[in-house]
Amino acid sequence: MSEQTLTKEEQAIKDRMEALAEEIEKHNKAYYVDNNPTISDDLYDSLFQELVRLEKEYPQFKSLFSPTDRVGAEVKSEMTKVTHKIPLLSIHTETDYTAQGAYDFDGRIRRSLELEPSAPPVEYDCELKFDGLAVNLRYEKGVLVVAATRGDGYTGEDVTANVRTIKTLPLKVEGLPDICEIRGEVILHKKEFERINEEQRKIGGKVFANPRNATAGSLRQLDPSITAKRNLSFYAYGLGEVSSEIAPTQSALLDKLKELGFPVSGMRTLAYGPAELQNFHLKVEQERKDLPFEIDGVVYKVNSFALQRELGYVSREPRWACAHKYPPEEAQTQVLDIEIQVGRTGKLTPVARLRPVFVGGTTISNASLHNEEFLEKMGVKIGDTIVIRRAGDVIPEIVRVVPELRPADARTFVFPEYCPICGSHAYKEPGEKDRRCTGGLFCKAMRVQSILHFVSRNAMGIDGIGEKLAEQLVADDTLKTVADIYKLTADQLVKYERMGEKSATKIIESIEKSKNTTLERFLFAISIPDVGEAGARTLAAHFGSLQALEDAGLEDLLGVEDVGPSTAEKILHFFAEPANLKVIDELRVAGVHWEEGGGRSTENQIFTGMTFVLTGTLPTLTRDEASDLIRKFGGKVAGSVSKKTSYVLAGANPGSKLSKAEALGVKIIDQDEFMKMLVQDKEDA
Ligand code: IVH
Repeated sequence: MSEQTLTKEEQAIKDRMEALAEEIEKHNKAYYVDNNPTISDDLYDSLFQELVRLEKEYPQFKSLFSPTDRVGAEVKSEMTKVTHKIPLLSIHTETDYTAQGAYDFDGRIRRSLELEPSAPPVEYDCELKFDGLAVNLRYEKGVLVVAATRGDGYTGEDVTANVRTIKTLPLKVEGLPDICEIRGEVILHKKEFERINEEQRKIGGKVFANPRNATAGSLRQLDPSITAKRNLSFYAYGLGEVSSEIAPTQSALLDKLKELGFPVSGMRTLAYGPAELQNFHLKVEQERKDLPFEIDGVVYKVNSFALQRELGYVSREPRWACAHKYPPEEAQTQVLDIEIQVGRTGKLTPVARLRPVFVGGTTISNASLHNEEFLEKMGVKIGDTIVIRRAGDVIPEIVRVVPELRPADARTFVFPEYCPICGSHAYKEPGEKDRRCTGGLFCKAMRVQSILHFVSRNAMGIDGIGEKLAEQLVADDTLKTVADIYKLTADQLVKYERMGEKSATKIIESIEKSKNTTLERFLFAISIPDVGEAGARTLAAHFGSLQALEDAGLEDLLGVEDVGPSTAEKILHFFAEPANLKVIDELRVAGVHWEEGGGRSTENQIFTGMTFVLTGTLPTLTRDEASDLIRKFGGKVAGSVSKKTSYVLAGANPGSKLSKAEALGVKIIDQDEFMKMLVQDKEDA
């Protein structure tokens, strides 16, 4: 709308709206940023309501940085993608927690810059490594126009409406270059995280495992009014596209951003040389527990932008920065109870129910005690205080009992000899660590677990059947065996809790699709004791058909690579059990099928003796599909690159495996070349 067409009256309204917006933003800053409100809540509310009313009446005058967006008014139906003008790269992680990490980084920098040992120390900016979600905030002429998540680094999701609700973030800034992208991390303060979970518990909503997940859940909300209630925070740490330079160094940039009104953490410092980097690492480690938010390490950056440019990038990581992490966190908590969980093969696992404790970035309330032997070795009793450790995403482990804190009424847990679910005898084979329920298909716990395994991604790959649904389907005996899955109908499914018609239809479609499978997936899916994914693959390749495996004797089985006497025995038992044969039969009658005669007998084994490593996203093949093809043609798939790797099959956004392959001189191919190898072979054959 051009200015000339406005009547005098309209112009006055527009001016009033602008004045209100500015006034409210000023009070927002005083309240949220400076913690120093200058007007009463009532007065603030009346200003706010006036603006809301005017914006409703005159939407054409609403500004792009209206403070009313801070409460999140518009609901989206799906997330829009945003392509980053400059990709958001990842950062090299120094996994050596000790001082060596800092020395390794400094050493690399000095070598790259060809500095003599006598040259003065390099100047570094040291910062916190925030454990949240990276975002790119694009300001045009000082106004926040687009906020996007990092995504895969190249394209992210448009979260503008949600980011506008972050109260400590300026929506309009004086003194920025015309185009200026600010990068930083959206995080949740620990207190907010706890408050949100408390609230979620009350309303029976989803409880978040850690602040990072809660941040992601809040930032990727389609309804920004929910985001607004989550009180997210933002800390700036860098730039994307800019139309003119803001500062010559990282530290000057952060000073400047702070001055302009962006939240910048005060926990940063300049360091000269590796010893000072290490000092920062140690100092932050000591203060880490008292920080209002989670961090997972510190970041070192070469301070001078000129030197940063000189150092440049290796693959997708800047050479001039590195993240230096912290060792796994430990915490103390109390064992409230010990319970037995029954797994898919009947294994009884003691699980400690813990007083929830926040450790390693997550709230932990359970820990596995593995088996009777471990329980005895730890000597843990109900009521004991224990030390728990968690690193990254691994399962938390109990490190030790704190005997000084054992209460007088601590109870010894007696390992049951009967299955707590079905009451069948739980038997421990001589020489085995695990006790197993002998209830078989009669045991509902085993049934639920075997169904969840059967549908899992690398087994039959049926989507939509989760724990809750499996439990219900087993409880009312709709699923007596996994074969009953193929008798399910959409009409039947909609009767269950939280199951809509659409989801039910999707599940049935997925079940239908799963019928076309491979022998190895099938063997993995049917839960033969001791036979995992790799075992199933070996058996499928060796025997080539289900019949051949069923007919195999002990000698035949012992002739298979990686099959020992105990596993061979279990396989024999499995196929001797009429109930198992009946299920297999029912599955085949239901239409589950695969191409027989794969494996050993195929003539096209071009990949025999070759090892492939996959990295990045391939244009059309999924990781599983590519792996299946490699194995089908006799090759092996490995998880990491070594001199023995024959090919690295790389797609978009490859990881560090690519640089390792380059360093070792391993041949790198893309999907096209890979497919050509296959086609060529077929033509030759
Ligand atoms: S700088 C090219 N600084 O770490 C380096 N990243 O970057 C650009 N992160 O998920 C990043 N705190 O969100 C930088 N002070 C900090 C950071 C930081 C956390 C995160 C970032 C990204 C990951 C790798």
